[in-house]
Amino acid sequence: MDALAALTTRVSPAALDTPGPSAAALETILQAAVAAPDHGRMKPWRFILIEGTAREKFGALLAQSLQRREPAAPAGKLEAERKKALRAPLIIVVAAAVQPNQKVPEIEQVVAVGAAAQNILVAAHALGFGGFWRTGANAYDVAMKRALGLAETDAIVGFLYLGTTKTPGPMRQGDTTSVTRRWAG
Ligand SMILES: Cc1cc2nc3c(=O)[nH]c(=O)nc-3n(C[C@H](O)[C@H](O)[C@H](O)COP(=O)(O)O)c2cc1C
Repeated sequence: MDALAALTTRVSPAALDTPGPSAAALETILQAAVAAPDHGRMKPWRFILIEGTAREKFGALLAQSLQRREPAAPAGKLEAERKKALRAPLIIVVAAAVQPNQKVPEIEQVVAVGAAAQNILVAAHALGFGGFWRTGANAYDVAMKRALGLAETDAIVGFLYLGTTKTPGPMRQGDTTSVTRRWAG
């Protein structure tokens, strides 16, 4: 798939299945990630791969995080949260390890990591895989960061779920006119 086709036809699938990307495809996807614009070449991105049975442990983290937020959450809700980890054969946690830098403010480092995350989704799509981006309260949970081996000061930019599209998501009609204007001074 050429680059423009990949960029303009990517959508979030409604459901994913196995197989996930092969080792070679994953390396290509990660190469696309680190090709994102990176002010100061700071490499602010960190990628944590969760596959196989590690997904069950990640599911336990999701459920624990929910229980901390909602101590009275019913068992069914906790179980649904736990199962979210099994929605895809591969989860890439994309995080920003922001470093103090006089020329590159924090927002630019986080945006660079966002660009890397987008490159992951588009590269996966170009290779024939589906992927969707999730955050939610789990991304801002300090205990979650710690359990994933991140520092409290790191930002989880996204949990990217990748696999083979089982149920496609709805295509979107790209609307540029309502959000674009020409400035002439
Ligand atoms: C930073 C970021 C975080 C997101 N977090 C969530 C999320 O937690 N839950 C969700 O349903 N969608 C989330 N989304 C949006 C979806 O991933 C998706 O892009 C959106 O539903 C539009 O669908 P599309 O990708 O098919 O255009 C997030 C998007 C971004 C950029």
